[in-house]
Amino acid sequence: MSLRSNVLDLRKRKKEVQKGGGDKAIEKQVKMGKLTARERILALLDKNSFHEYDLFVEHAAKDFGMEGKTLHGDGVIIGTGTIYDKPVCIFAQDFTVAGGSLGLMHARKITKIMDHALKMRVPLIGINDSGGARIQEGVNSLAGYGEIFFRNTLASGVIPQISVILGPCAGGAVYSPALTDFVFVVENISKMFITGPSVVKSVLGEEVSMEELGGAKVHAEVTGNAHFYAETEMECFDQIKTLISFIPRSNLKKALPHKPKAPLKGVKVEDIVPADPRIPYDMRDVLKSITDGSEFFEVMERFAPNIIVGFGRMNGETVGFVANQPMVLAGVLDIDSSDKAARFIRYCDAFNIPIVTMEDLPGYLPGVDQEHAGVIRHGAKILYAYSEATVPKITVIVRKAYGGGYIAMNSRHLRADFVFAWPTAEIAVMGPEGAANIVFRKEIAEAENPEEMRQQKIEEYKEKFANPYVAAAQGYIDEVIEPSETRARILHALQVSENKSASMPAKKHGIPPF
Ligand code: HXC
Repeated sequence: MSLRSNVLDLRKRKKEVQKGGGDKAIEKQVKMGKLTARERILALLDKNSFHEYDLFVEHAAKDFGMEGKTLHGDGVIIGTGTIYDKPVCIFAQDFTVAGGSLGLMHARKITKIMDHALKMRVPLIGINDSGGARIQEGVNSLAGYGEIFFRNTLASGVIPQISVILGPCAGGAVYSPALTDFVFVVENISKMFITGPSVVKSVLGEEVSMEELGGAKVHAEVTGNAHFYAETEMECFDQIKTLISFIPRSNLKKALPHKPKAPLKGVKVEDIVPADPRIPYDMRDVLKSITDGSEFFEVMERFAPNIIVGFGRMNGETVGFVANQPMVLAGVLDIDSSDKAARFIRYCDAFNIPIVTMEDLPGYLPGVDQEHAGVIRHGAKILYAYSEATVPKITVIVRKAYGGGYIAMNSRHLRADFVFAWPTAEIAVMGPEGAANIVFRKEIAEAENPEEMRQQKIEEYKEKFANPYVAAAQGYIDEVIEPSETRARILHALQVSENKSASMPAKKHGIPPF
């Protein structure tokens, strides 16, 4: 056999395996509105950058009719490539091959690329489209999942881990995405649940569709399992690329800087925020008024919208923003918003991304529902996350900073590096109305005109406490600034903090209020 014929033979073999589950299965995949695993990888990675490994891996299962059955690539494609020239490791489950089910060799391929990603310190992207544990392979499939979960945990906080749900992700399989940093879902395509509709019906007698139980919207809006929601697979890939452009390759690196840009002209911060604390506004507009090019890449946009988290750039460098959203529930902190913010803060801290906090909130949300669902435990997460974060931490108090909310939103007391307040800031134990009603209850009740007395006491309280100057007099705020100075002051604070060195006491690990 000549070299040429060897090469031709190789090409033929590759072509055969690359067909995955064959024309019929591919046709079914297309009918479901889905791309194939290979098309997905090629659409996501830079052109001609994909390098595949383990193409010729075969399963060795014998039971339940598996002997002699060919499953090309054992239902998963693994490899390396680049996105915006940055290296990534990737795997994509191929639903056309035995429903992308995970058997022993399938799992070994995934864990091989995970080990690679961790060793080489590059991001890992996993595209999930699978019927879960391969039933015919029994405990070997379960073992495979265990090996994946263990590696997800090892890699957590070391390399970025991204999960893309582009099909079913059922049973214990959902726990790999849950252990990763960012989960992407697509309308009508993504499905995640521990037990499907038929089990729900047989155990609980409840009728529910797959979409209602664990569709993309449910995870983006209700459960908070998904961080990004897209209407099409291509939109989802664009979102992943944008995310990759903001984050560093590993915890040993900083995100690569971009060319600095000014915010768009005409976006003036001082025109956005009404001085009256009762009038809401969109905090996103404030963020866009200070970021490079007025660009802000929001994370978990549809979940707990009373807090905003996401990435922007300041002078070309990636910054993580955490901001109360006065437009939703007055920007209050509750269970979901605390979980959302705490997780994002920990992400930024793990990956050397400075955090800028924009504050305007009336405190934690009161109520039996919140108390009984554990607002104490969940609310503590944000305190923990800010306190342990050692990256540069900058706070701007825009308007309200009441009670626990003042402390929780990266106050000086949790070791903020720079705290600025606008002259509209109100820093107090609670809002003037509530405070006056409690502190001056007796005077108000006994007054000839109680309403007049109430208003007088509210004004007195406002004058004394609901302003930034008492906190500034204590040095809890470093400077009261004009709104138009906000970008410049943050930029300078970031520049000064560039070589920040801070650490936590030596410990194996803390015990956060999970
Ligand atoms: C083996 C599987 C499979 C599985 C699907 N297939 N899931 N083979 N093990 N888990 C095969 C089917 O037999 C079929 O093969 C092909 O994949 C396509 O499946 P269809 O059922 O025809 O596709 P569809 O109608 O689109 O339904 C998709 C599905 C359904 C909803 C995912 O296949 C399904 O319910 N599968 C089982 C899901 C499940 O219960 N998995 C185990 C979860 S427990 P042919 O040869 O006919 O084309 C789990 C434990 C993990 O994962 C524990 C970790 C700790």
